[in-house]
Amino acid sequence: MELLQKSILTIFFLVFMDGVFSSPPDDPVKCTSGNRNCTISNAYGIFPDRSTCRASQVLYPTTEQELVSMVASASKSNIKVKVATRYSHSVPKLACPGGQDGIIISTNKLNRVVKVDVESKRMTVEGGLLLRDLINEAAENGLALPNTPYWWGITVGGLLATGAHGSSLWGKGSAVHEYVVSMRIVTPATVEEGYAKVISLNESDEELDAAKVSFGVLGVVSQVTLQLQPMFKRELTYVTKNDSDLGEELIRFGKEHEFGDVWWYPSQKKALYRIDDRVSIDQSGNGLYDFIPFRPTLSALLAANRATEELQEATRDANGRCLTAKLVTGTLKTLALGLTNNGILFTGYPVVGQNNRMQSAGTCLESKEDALLTICPWDSRLQLVFIHQLAFSISLSNVTSFVNDVKKLVELEPQALCVLELNNGILLRYVKASSAYLGKTQDVVDFDFTYYRSKDPLTPRLFEDILEEIEQIGLFKYGGLPHWGKNRNLSFKQVINKYPNGDKFLSVKNKYDPQGIFSNEWTDQVLGLKEGVMIMKDGCALEGLCICSEDRHCAPSKKYYCRPGKVYKEARVCAFDDKADTMDEL
Ligand SMILES: Cc1cc2nc3c(=O)[nH]c(=O)nc-3n(C[C@H](O)[C@H](O)[C@H](O)COP(=O)(O)OP(=O)(O)OC[C@H]3O[C@@H](n4cnc5c(N)ncnc54)[C@H](O)[C@@H]3O)c2cc1C
Ligand SMILES: *[C@@H]1O[C@H](CO)[C@@H](O)[C@H](O)[C@H]1NC(C)=O
Ligand SMILES: *[C@@H]1O[C@H](CO)[C@@H](O)[C@H](O)[C@H]1NC(C)=O
Ligand SMILES: *[C@@H]1O[C@H](CO)[C@@H](O)[C@H](O)[C@H]1NC(C)=O
Ligand SMILES: *[C@@H]1O[C@H](CO)[C@@H](O)[C@H](O)[C@H]1NC(C)=O
Ligand SMILES: *[C@@H]1O[C@H](CO)[C@@H](O)[C@H](O)[C@H]1NC(C)=O
Repeated sequence: MELLQKSILTIFFLVFMDGVFSSPPDDPVKCTSGNRNCTISNAYGIFPDRSTCRASQVLYPTTEQELVSMVASASKSNIKVKVATRYSHSVPKLACPGGQDGIIISTNKLNRVVKVDVESKRMTVEGGLLLRDLINEAAENGLALPNTPYWWGITVGGLLATGAHGSSLWGKGSAVHEYVVSMRIVTPATVEEGYAKVISLNESDEELDAAKVSFGVLGVVSQVTLQLQPMFKRELTYVTKNDSDLGEELIRFGKEHEFGDVWWYPSQKKALYRIDDRVSIDQSGNGLYDFIPFRPTLSALLAANRATEELQEATRDANGRCLTAKLVTGTLKTLALGLTNNGILFTGYPVVGQNNRMQSAGTCLESKEDALLTICPWDSRLQLVFIHQLAFSISLSNVTSFVNDVKKLVELEPQALCVLELNNGILLRYVKASSAYLGKTQDVVDFDFTYYRSKDPLTPRLFEDILEEIEQIGLFKYGGLPHWGKNRNLSFKQVINKYPNGDKFLSVKNKYDPQGIFSNEWTDQVLGLKEGVMIMKDGCALEGLCICSEDRHCAPSKKYYCRPGKVYKEARVCAFDDKADTMDEL
């Protein structure tokens, strides 16, 4: 009952505090003396291995010319470099310069719109421009970037680097890099060339397929030109169905609706379908999608929610958690997840609105400082949302089998996945096969999982084994491709072997940055140039640093042992077993 009240309160504030105040997120780069002796983390303030990265200094170029001279001096002295962005939203250690004393080049001041060509519908922007500003500037010129990620607090350079996407199988598909027609990259160069140069790539250059999705290992993306479309409207309706036929329906649905996606609530055996199609700009409607989880949120209520979740974990209260989960998903649905028909009120479906008002959101970034009274939920200063975030994509040809395997696990453990529904379930989105060397190799459905992470790395989670098994089924049984900007260590195990053009990417990297000054330990591991993706130590499987092979990789003292999967026997997961330790002792 108390829980119910708390949640209702939360919802009250989510609705009424909307857009009033918020403390914008911090800069991920912090230095002790001026711009020297710095650390960098991500927007959550925590990397998968809980480490903090170091750098000797941070630089803020304001022009491409300054960028060239900064890259030249790093290249001349063979110093490691990495680009940092305004908020650094990638989960893995992408943004860290190699070693301890590399240089961070921040794109905070490279955030201008360079050119809008309304005639050709092309727009040229600097690498540090926020997605929000890109969408708005295009709209002011009557133009639309049809597909984008759903969160607009990310930069053009960062989102391209990780292959970020929305949801579509139509046209060029949902990944923003499909709309890139040219790029300017600042790379290291020879002594004769002055140690750095600008490489300008257009659609007739094959190397553009390396540059579009690059983790930033080729150099600094200075400018990007995108092919836009005339502004259009969308007509959106959410429909709930049971998930009996989800595995098959997914294939049909993606082909039928241009911007469809699905929120799946596996424990409730339900799916929320986003029926979202392009309509004429003349259709009436001024809808707005101000997605509730991306609004300024009261930190006190986030703290209460976290405390509830920690208590449910500590007391193994699976029932309580499933009840809370139903309340969360039910309420979000009632509030149409943040959709309104006119920017103020939700009066019913369909909601019709301009693409720029419907495609992406993030009002928690805006508005005034309020001393952390309200925040983006995942604000690194408070860490009230402390989560694992996995995302991998399964080819359309395997998606039905994958969904059915997850359902088998739900049959065996009906309460195991409520933990996902506390974060509104699994988000399923479509991405098309790409010519980008590190883009999707097939038409896929991307599955996005967000769930509770313990503050203590050695404390196992309720039904930990089931989620670990799903992760291994997706990645290893069905050849899933991990999102480059999310996931944990184990997701990247031998990942480069899943990319037929991986070797082409590496040869462009060798050509552009032969010394590897833009590479770090993480990129070398992911690209297969270095061992050590998995870290085998006590408790490593609890944090996804490894796949367990011995009990000590789990938490035997807390009765979590390394066991085969229930559906996928090849999986190795940390399973709770109440009776096992007495047997081990015998
Ligand atoms: C709340 C939230 C919602 C999200 N929603 C989505 C979504 O809907 N769809 C999706 O696909 N992803 C989503 N993501 C993931 C996100 O899109 C990626 O993590 C994205 O890469 C973040 O962009 P960023 O600007 O923060 O880049 P960062 O994370 O700071 O950087 C990513 C990498 O790119 C490099 N880099 C950045 N700029 C440049 C440049 N100019 N030149 C060279 N290298 C550069 C960095 O060094 C780093 O290696 C979401 C993440 C969060 C936290
Ligand atoms: C560098 O920063 C660390 C904290 O990140 C601090 O402990 C150390 O004293 C700083 N060193 C100098 C020389 O400022
Ligand atoms: C692409 O760039 C090359 C030079 O690198 C140039 O000759 C060609 O005209 C450009 N093509 C387009 C379509 O701009
Ligand atoms: C799911 O819904 C379909 C109709 O869409 C119905 O035929 C079927 O019986 C339902 N299944 C369950 C398990 O409720
Ligand atoms: C689909 O899954 C099978 C195993 O069931 C795997 O061998 C195959 O590579 C997967 N297909 C793709 C395109 O990933
Ligand atoms: C794995 O974890 C280690 C730290 O334990 C980290 O240094 C490394 O970069 C990680 N690798 C990947 C691919 O995530």
